[in-house]
Amino acid sequence: MRQSPLVVVANRLPVDDSVAPDGAFEWRRSPGGLVSALHPLLRNTPAAWVGWAGGTGPAPHLPDVDGVRMHTVALTGDDLRDHYEGFANATLWPLYHDAVEQPEYHRRWWEAYQRVNQRFAEAAAEAAEPGATVWVQDYHLQLVPGLLRELRPDLRIGFFLHVPFPPPELFMQLPRRTELLRGMLGADLIGFQRAQAAHNFAQLVAKVLGLPATDRRINVGERVVRVGAFPVSIDTAEMAALAARPEVADRARRLRQDLGDPERVVLSVDRMDYTKGIEQRLKAYRELLASGDVKVRDTVLIQVAVPSRDRVAQYQILRDRVEHQVGRINGEFGRVGEPAIHYLSQPFDRAELVALYRTADVMAVTPLRDGMNLVAKEYVAARVDDTGALLLSEFAGAAAELEQAYLVNPHDLDGLKQGLLAALRATPEDVAARMRAMRGHLLRDDIHAWARSYLTALDETGSLLRRIGTTD
Ligand code: ADP
Ligand code: F6P
Repeated sequence: MRQSPLVVVANRLPVDDSVAPDGAFEWRRSPGGLVSALHPLLRNTPAAWVGWAGGTGPAPHLPDVDGVRMHTVALTGDDLRDHYEGFANATLWPLYHDAVEQPEYHRRWWEAYQRVNQRFAEAAAEAAEPGATVWVQDYHLQLVPGLLRELRPDLRIGFFLHVPFPPPELFMQLPRRTELLRGMLGADLIGFQRAQAAHNFAQLVAKVLGLPATDRRINVGERVVRVGAFPVSIDTAEMAALAARPEVADRARRLRQDLGDPERVVLSVDRMDYTKGIEQRLKAYRELLASGDVKVRDTVLIQVAVPSRDRVAQYQILRDRVEHQVGRINGEFGRVGEPAIHYLSQPFDRAELVALYRTADVMAVTPLRDGMNLVAKEYVAARVDDTGALLLSEFAGAAAELEQAYLVNPHDLDGLKQGLLAALRATPEDVAARMRAMRGHLLRDDIHAWARSYLTALDETGSLLRRIGTTD
């Protein structure tokens, strides 16, 4: 096997197998924040990506994607059920998102988590050249840093958590909390989205493992593990360039015409996930329609909600409820040829998504809890003419950076309604001043700045950055 100087290990590969409209088999970019962040970064570098290709059975051979080597890890049906859908997405995911849904604990799931983490660690060990850097991603693989260190002590190992890391009161519920913390401590550098998460982690390490820990350094025997906040971002310039293309601008104009040239277009783009606050947002919108503050004649809501983790019970229930809610609102308030909500549950290519961003006067991003939320950043990057209002939840990691957004607490229905009305009624001057400030921030703190700051902290000599040549 060819070995690489930089190996990214993530549950999911950047492409998914899917079936094209003509029935042919094709590889398509997987929706989700992790892929959106890392894919542009690694393009045309000598990096390798170890991950799962989205199905069960033997690992398919994938060609390089934009010059990046793909190493597929196979999952069996049992692994899919107990690791991905079970421990990762029905134990850790809800627990790490403020337990907005009840986390479930099953010993069989934990066994699968260990087994699958071991498989990923072995695949990473094979793909890494001597002295390489291995960058492990996200909550699916928290044991990999420790397992990999045992297999390959020569490697530099980084770990980055894309989702929130919960406060001790919640994390302490986990029956296998000790093992999870120890697994992460196999890394040389542990990155979080927010300083609060690094603080939560250090507190837990001190409490559960009794190790000396600050929010920046943890001593594990002879080793020092560094900890820090590295808020993930997007390729702002690339997104802006796409938004500025004449065909994207034309498509945005056509979309608006197809919507009946309303005065205001409100857009939401989410994975269908209970952390995204879709039900709360629809409820707020329904109340605004009922009170007459928003009128179907002049305002249109587009809700894009791409199905996600659709064999997990909580996700199936959510989808049914959202679709029921949309149908009900359209039934009550829509008019012939004028639905109150345009609901789209399809994956879109980047150009179509950006055309949607360009069409929207207001982007409503109101998760109950979100590690970062790249959709909010993508919207800002796409508003190249400094128009457009961002309605943003205080509980999204992005709120710490996009302070000029219209910030709301999505648990507060009245606050949510007022926030949406404020964004809809804002003056063009106010909107432009806010958007300019947010775009300025994202042009500085883009995905390349993120990678530079993380990888410089991980590899202080800078040799890796020079070798992969990817950071500006
Ligand atoms: P999460 O990581 O929880 O999915 P983020 O907002 O951070 O949330 O990232 C979602 C990513 O998925 C964004 O880059 C967004 O553009 C992409 N995405 C969301 N919905 C779709 C869709 N319908 N089609 C294609 N990409 C999508
Ligand atoms: O950002 C959180 C995250 O879980 C990523 O790890 C993942 O790529 C994305 O959401 C989409 O989820 P999934 O891989 O389960 O479809």
